[in-house]
Formats: sequence, C-alpha cells, structure tokens
Amino acid sequence: MSRLGGAVENGLHDGLSDMCLLEPLEEDAFIDNLQRRFQGDQIYTYIGSVVISVNPYQSLPLYTHEVIFQYRSRNIYELPPHIYAITDDAYRSMRDRNLDQCVIISGESGAGKTEASKVIMQFVAAVSGKGANIDRVKEQLLQSNPVLEGLYIHGVIKNKNFNDFLFTAFGNAKTTRNDNSSRFGKYMDIEFDYKGDPVGGVITNYLLEKSRVIWQSKGERNFHIFYQLLSGADTSFLKSLKLLRNPESYAFLRHGGCSHIESVDDKHNFTVIKNAMKVIGFKENELSLVFQLVACVLKLGNIHFQHISNFDGTDGCKLINEEEVDEVCDLLGCVSSDLIDALRHRSVRTNTETVQMDLSATEATYARDALCKAIYSRLFSWLVARINDSIRVKSRGKRKSMGVLDIYGFEIFDTNSFEQFIINFCNEKLQQLFIELTLREEQEEYIAEGVQWINVDYFNNAVICDLIEKNNQGILAMLDEECLRPGDTTDQTFLQKLNSLCCTHQHFESRGCRKTQSDRTLPLDAFRLIHYAGAVTYKVTGFLDKNNDLLFRDLSYAMFSCSHPLLQLIFPEGNPQRSSLKRPATAGSQFKVSVNDLMRNLKTKCPNYIRCIKPNDYKRPGLFVKEIVLHQVRYLGLMENVRVRRAGYAFRQIYEQFLYRYKMLCSDTWPLWHGTAKEGVARLFAKLGVHDQDCAFGVTKIFIRNPRTLFCMEDMRKLKMEDLATLLQKIWRGWHHRQIFLRMRQSQIHIASVWRKYRARKEFLRIRHAAIVLCTYTRGWKARRLLKRLRFERQCVWAVGVIRKYFFGWQVRKEYRCKFRATAGPRIVNFLHNALRHRYLMRLREHLPSLSPTDDTWPTPPIIFHSLSEQLREIHHKWRCEKFRNACDQATRNRMREKVTASDLFFDRKINYPRSVSHPFIGDYVNLRQNSKWKKTACDTNDQHLVFADIVMKINRRNGKMVPQLLVLSTNALLVLDQRTLVIKYRIPTSEVESLSLSPFWDKLVIFHLKKNGGDVLTKKGDFLLSSDHVIEIVAKTVLLVQNATSRRPPVYIGTQ
Ligand SMILES: Nc1ncnc2c1ncn2[C@@H]1O[C@H](COP(=O)(O)OP(=O)(O)O)[C@@H](O)[C@H]1O
Ligand SMILES: [Mg+2]
Repeated sequence: MSRLGGAVENGLHDGLSDMCLLEPLEEDAFIDNLQRRFQGDQIYTYIGSVVISVNPYQSLPLYTHEVIFQYRSRNIYELPPHIYAITDDAYRSMRDRNLDQCVIISGESGAGKTEASKVIMQFVAAVSGKGANIDRVKEQLLQSNPVLEGLYIHGVIKNKNFNDFLFTAFGNAKTTRNDNSSRFGKYMDIEFDYKGDPVGGVITNYLLEKSRVIWQSKGERNFHIFYQLLSGADTSFLKSLKLLRNPESYAFLRHGGCSHIESVDDKHNFTVIKNAMKVIGFKENELSLVFQLVACVLKLGNIHFQHISNFDGTDGCKLINEEEVDEVCDLLGCVSSDLIDALRHRSVRTNTETVQMDLSATEATYARDALCKAIYSRLFSWLVARINDSIRVKSRGKRKSMGVLDIYGFEIFDTNSFEQFIINFCNEKLQQLFIELTLREEQEEYIAEGVQWINVDYFNNAVICDLIEKNNQGILAMLDEECLRPGDTTDQTFLQKLNSLCCTHQHFESRGCRKTQSDRTLPLDAFRLIHYAGAVTYKVTGFLDKNNDLLFRDLSYAMFSCSHPLLQLIFPEGNPQRSSLKRPATAGSQFKVSVNDLMRNLKTKCPNYIRCIKPNDYKRPGLFVKEIVLHQVRYLGLMENVRVRRAGYAFRQIYEQFLYRYKMLCSDTWPLWHGTAKEGVARLFAKLGVHDQDCAFGVTKIFIRNPRTLFCMEDMRKLKMEDLATLLQKIWRGWHHRQIFLRMRQSQIHIASVWRKYRARKEFLRIRHAAIVLCTYTRGWKARRLLKRLRFERQCVWAVGVIRKYFFGWQVRKEYRCKFRATAGPRIVNFLHNALRHRYLMRLREHLPSLSPTDDTWPTPPIIFHSLSEQLREIHHKWRCEKFRNACDQATRNRMREKVTASDLFFDRKINYPRSVSHPFIGDYVNLRQNSKWKKTACDTNDQHLVFADIVMKINRRNGKMVPQLLVLSTNALLVLDQRTLVIKYRIPTSEVESLSLSPFWDKLVIFHLKKNGGDVLTKKGDFLLSSDHVIEIVAKTVLLVQNATSRRPPVYIGTQ
C-alpha cells in the first residue's frame, strides 16, 4: 500500500457516511464523526446497512417528494445515508425477491423513533402503487398512527405529502423528554400483494405505561386524549359525558401541573383524531362508547374514600362523593350500589365459600386506581384490536410483509423500576437478535462468497438475556415465583431471593452480593444489572405489585355486569360463567411471551435497523452534547454494532461495481477492461500494491479488511478524477472548438455562395435593363419613322380628296351653269324662311297660354325666332288684358283702378300694403248710403256720390287724443261727421287736398296736407291726422278723387320724417 499513501483525512472532512470505515475505531472518533455530520445537517450515518439517526429538532429539507424520488430504486451507497435508502432497499428486496422485511427502530424517548417510523411509511406510501383501494388502505394505515401515536409537534414531515401525522392519541403523552412520547411499544406489520401494493396490516402493542393514568411526574401530562376530549368536545357532548371543561377539575390530570402544552392545539387535535377514527372505520356509536370510558376514568379518579372503623375493629371505608359514582354508573349502565360495594369490599373465595372483607381507605384507593388503569389499558388494547379489524387484509392470496418496530429504547433513569427493567429486557433481546442476525448474515455471506471466516471479538449479550428470562432461574421467573408463593412476600423477599441465586452472575450486582457488598452507590433496596449498554440500578419497590397487576375480582364482576357494551368485551374474566380461580398471568411473564413472539416473528424476516440518537436534552436544534450522545452510543451498543459489522472485513462490494468505481486507477483497466470483473480487480490491486492479507476475493464480491485501503483508493480516485476531468475538459474543448470552426467554415462557404449569387444576379439585371432600354429606343425610332410615313400618306390622301372635290365642283358647275337662273338662290332661301315661320306660328297657335293675365307661361321658340317670340308674347299679353278689362263693368273697373292706384302708391313702400291686396275695397263700411239722414245731408251738400264711409280715429294735433268720427269721401269732398248725429264737423272739397303723408311702417296713420290759401275754416286749421284700418283704401281713393277733381295727382309722401 506504500504507493497509495496520501491524505487519508481528506475523506473525513465532511464526516464519514459509514462508521465501518472509521479508523481508528474508537468512541471519540465515532462521536466526532457524528458531530461533524450533525453540524453539516447530515443527520443520518450508516453502520453497514444500519442507519444512525440523530434527532435534528428542526425541520430539514430531507423529506420532500423530490428526495423520495431521488432515493427510489437506487443502490443504498449511491446517495448520502437516509432512512429512505434502507427503506427502498428493504421494499425492493421484499417486492422483487419475496424476502419479508422488518425495520427495528430503537433509541431513547425523544430520539425520533416515531418520526422515523412515519418517514418509512411515507416512503412506502409514495413509492407503492396507486388506486382507490390501495389509497384507502394507505390512508387507514397512516391514520392508525394519529389514533395510537400522537401529535406531531415540530412539523418536520408536516406539509410533505404525508397524510398529516399531527394529532392526538391514546398512547402518547408529554414527558419531560418528549412532548409526544409514545408510552407503549408498537410493532406494525404492513402487508403487500405480489405487486408490492399495500393491502392491509396488523398492529401489535406492547406494555402501555398505564401507571401514567393515575400519576404523572412534575412537568408531564397524562395521555393526550384526556386533554383533547376536555378542550375539543362540544358542550353538549361534554354534558352527556358529565364532564367539566377544566382539566384541573380532575385529580388524574393535576399531578404534572401542566395541563397545557404551548405547541399543541388539543382542541383542533380532538377533531382530527375523531376524523382519523372515522377514516379507519369507527362508527359514531363506537366513538361515544370509547369516550364514555375515557370520561369514566377521569371521574373515578375524583372518588375519595374516608377511613371508618368497623364493629369488629377491622378497618373499613366509606365514599365521600357518592354523586360522582352515580354519574359514572349512569355512563357505564350499572347500579351504583354494586360499584360502590365492589370498590369498598373484596371477596375472598375458597373452594367452599366466599367471604367478603372490607377494604381500608388506602386499599380502596388502590383498588380504584387499579380499576382505572385496567379500564384505560384494556380500552387501548381494544382500540388496537379494532384498528386491526379495519386494516386486516381482507383478500386471500400470498402476501409479503414489512414490519416496523417502534419500541422504547434503553432507559436509564435516576430511579429505575419494574417498567425500566421490562423495557431494558426487551432491548437486550433486540440486541441479541441484532447480533444473531448480523453475525449470521455475515457468516452466510462469507460462506456464500467462499471467504474464510475469522472469529472476532465482540460482546455477546446472550448471558444477560438468560439472566433475565431463563426458565426457573431467570429474574422474571423468580419474580413470578415470589408473586405466586403463598405466605408473606414483599419486594424485599424478592431481592433476597435474587441475591441468593444470581450473586455469582457477572452481570448481576447488589448489596447482598459479596463482590459489591461495600458499594455505596448501590442502595440496599436495589439490584444492578450490567446490561450490554451499561449498568442499570433497579429499585425493587413495587416490583411484586406491578408484576401481579391485580384487579380485584369484585371489580371485574362489576364491570362485566355493566350494560356498557365495551366493558363486557374488555373485562371477559368478570363473566360469572367463565370465571375461574386461576390467577391471570403476571405482567412479566405476559411480556416475556409477547417479546419472544416478537423475536420469533422478527427472525423470520430480514432485519433493518434504525438507531435513533438524541443530541441534547433540551429539544434544541443544532446543539450536540457529546456526553449525552456518548451515553446513547454506548447503551445502543453502536460500537458493538460496528465491531460486529467489521468482524472480518470492513468493506465489501460486488466486483463489477467496485471495478467500475476504481478502474481509472490502473492503466490496464482504464478505460475498458476486457476480462472478467474479478480479474480486473485483481489486476488493479496488483498494480496498487494491495497485499493479499488486506483483502479477500469472494465469488461475486471483493472484501477489504481495512478501511484505510479504501480511503487511499478514494483519495487516488479523487486525484485521478481531477486528471480525468481535465482530460475530459481538454477533449471537450477541442471538440467544442472544432465544432465552432466547422460551423464557421460552413458559414463562410454559405456566405460566399450567397454573395456570388447576389453579384451575378445584380449583373444580369443590369444587362437585362440595358437590353430593354436599347429595344425600347429602337422600337420607338421605328415607330416614329412609321408614323411619319403614315401621316404623309394620310396628307396625300386628304390632298387628293380636296383636289378631287374641287375638280368635281368645277366640273359640275361648268356643266350646270347654263341650267340655273341667277335669282334662284335668294328665292329658295326666302321660301325656306317662310315655311319655317309658318310652321312656328302654327305651332304657337296650338300652344298659346291661357287668357288669365296672371299666367306666366309661354312656349319656348326656336333660336331664330327669339325676338319675334318676345314681341308676340307682349302683344298677346296686352291683348288678353284688354279682353279682361272689357269683360268687367264700370264699378269693377273703378275698383280695379283704385287697386292699381294703391299698388302704384304703396308697392314696396309700406309694410302693411301686401295685407291689403286681398281685401276688396268695399267703400261704405257703415252702410251710409241707406241712411235717410245722410241722404238728406248729402242732398244739401251735393255729396250724393259716396266713395268711402267708415269710423276712423281722428287724432287731435294738440294733445294727441284720439276721437272716433265718421269719415266720408264723396266725389266732391272729404267729410268728417259726428258718428251718431251725422252732423258734419268738417267738409273739405277734394281740390283742397294738397298732398298726403304716411310712414313706411305697420301704423295706420295718414296725414292730409291741405292747401294753405283756402278760405275754409277747416283749412285754416292746417293738416289733419287720422288713423284707420283702411288707410290704404282711403289714400288710394283720395288720390283718385283729387286727380279727378284737379286733373293732377296729389303727391303721397311715404317716409320716416
Ligand atoms: N427527523 C426529524 N426531523 C426533525 N425533528 C424530528 C425528527 N425526528 C424527531 N424529531 C423531533 O423530535 C420529537 C420527538 O420525536 P419522536 O419520534 O416522538 O421521539 P420518540 O418516538 O423516539 O420518543 C418530535 O416531536 C420532533 O419534534
Ligand atoms: Mg415515540
């Protein structure tokens, strides 16, 4: 190995993943290695195929789905140590090679056993098949945990697709070491079909710590279910169970002084546990029955007894709070006097008669406690049986199984009692099994591989197991004997018996033995066993009692006679028909039987081990207390584990895998070895100078004695790998750059070809364009030449035509000159004119417009008759006007004259003129002509020819006052009369009117301007002003009258002045 030299320690920097490779194999190195790994969050380490798990007390990303699938179907040494790796290995061995498996998880309370068992189930659930039925089975198996096991506090696996394992339980409680400590041992066999899908399971429970029901140390709690029930049940349910919500109301929950745990929500957990029970298949009424018993235990705990002295001087007792018993009896369905009797008395049966003895207050309390413990522990066993009923495999057919044993580890307390003794016995048995199986396996492997077996030094604990369990001589046998022996037996007599029988045993010590007589560390009432994992001192007090585990028969009867269906099931010995005088088996012997059953079961399976270690006592993450770990490493016998595992060769591997890993260390085997793998390994070892005594060549595996050999090879491999990496990099870079070069060359060719194509095309297009231009010019030139020629030809043709026409004209004129008179032309023209005129006039006659002077239409003439047409139109219009006038009589004519005069005067000059056009000028608006008075007056003044009469408003020029008066116009004068009396106020001869004035607006005013030189009174007054609705008529008529009288039309002023 000289050539292997090098930095052996390199491999140790991150901690060794397999303790078998530890060199030197010493406790310190072992602990150092664990610590180094723990600090790098590597909580798992192997000893061969055993996993050491150090509780991290914190959530690490080790349990995700990705991690599961990383470990799935991988070789155990390929990835860092993990529970998944050994679970996968076990699962595949079971599925593919039909080898039943078991996983034994051990470690002290709080070391992470229960969590480890969940991790295993999580893995199995994730990698096994899917489907409605399978999922249901998985769910039931997973939910059995919460019911029995308990709440999960730090949430490692929470959220990791692991059917929420938090929750409360019947079997777990808070202890000072673990808030969720399992207070029972559990072995769960999961059964699989031929495909490896889970189909069911069986759970076995071991030794529930029932003393916890009646007593808890400071800082500890009773089983979780009590607190969960009290805080989680709704008020009506609590009432039906006759319970109070406050846990402090119950004596059994008061001892520990901490009914609440910070990190636990009991209320929520109660709901969850109920759901879990429903998933498993518990019916609603079964749930109530279970909780009734839980309630009874609490209520019985509150019953107190008081001492009384009987007449015969013996001690007796009486019940203080009978009402509590009444309520319990209500729940259990029994008569309270029966239960009180059973609690206060004890019947002693002989073959002939039965005698009833009174119990003292202390005895009665003891009996009550025994009853409570019995009810709770039997209820627990019933729950397990009930869960088993649900998860038991229903289908027939061959099954494979994988067992998970989560059992309390070795316990060494300050005071150790019967429970620790039993637990440590169990651990001794497990260690024994481990040794047996590991050595057997080792031996079998050596034989199978044809390697010589070398005996190794390791401690075999079979002697200790014998000391405890040997028939007739073992400590358990003596304990039983002491319990069953008639006469006065006490814990002390038991100790004396032990002293007399075991003192010579090298693993037994007590003050009664000569060798330890003066050992003051050993109390007088105790004995010490040197277990494989260390010495434990057991106080004998209570051994007999706990082993007897007596429940007075009267109480069994009382329980059986209750109508509560569960009680009859769990207290079968209370049935009077079945009762026998035979004592029930003691707790110790029962446990021994079940442990041996368990061992037998485990021996039929391939074992896998998980050893859990607690790094500190404070549940604190990141804290690694060496002393505490060392203590556990010792009592878990981990050093022993390594020694046994290395009992020959520290390392072994299949040739192919080994060669594959190390072939680069020898030029002959690298890169390809053409011989067999075994020959390859031999060549490799020869080259490396590994001596024959350092290794052995098996049939399929190479065995290496010393881990140092492997480390050296690992180091060399590491260096070689670096070289290889460089080589690989070199080759890769060369290849990479060649690829780049090839790609660039290809690109260059491509670019060149594209460029050439582009250039050629451009040249071609230029030539084509030039050719087209040339063609165009040529064609243009040819076309122009042709055009010129054609034009010339056309001119020639035209010239010929003209010459020809002139020639023909000249010829015709010459020929016809003699035949025409010189005046023929104008006469023809004249004739044509006449004919046209005639035709026009004839047509006009047919289309003349109507005779109405207002009709504007007139036929459109041909252009030559335009001026003629205008003249004719005027003539025609005048003619039809004439005709219209002639058709009218004198009166109409006069009226028309008046209207025409009005039009002349006012058209376009006064705004209210157009309104007057359609009104006929009636003249006599007041019918004056018929008035006889007027007739007479008119005769007098010669005004008979009346033209106008109407009431008008005469305006006084001085004050602007309006006076209604009758205005009369006659042919001779203008008269103003009083409208009633018709007396003439003024009479102005027509000829006196000089002129008239009006405004152009809407008003109805007219001013008559009179001649200034007139002699009349009135005329002296000057002009006068009046307003009338018929102002237009008055003015028109006045103008005509004046014109008639003076042959001069008086001027009418229309203006704004
Ligand atoms: N793998 C783990 N990762 C994180 N925390 C853990 C792990 N194993 C255990 N723990 C913590 O330790 C506590 C005790 O574990 P548990 O399995 O109940 O101990 P045991 O069953 O050995 O008494 C758990 O509640 C949890 O907080
Ligand atoms: Mg546990």
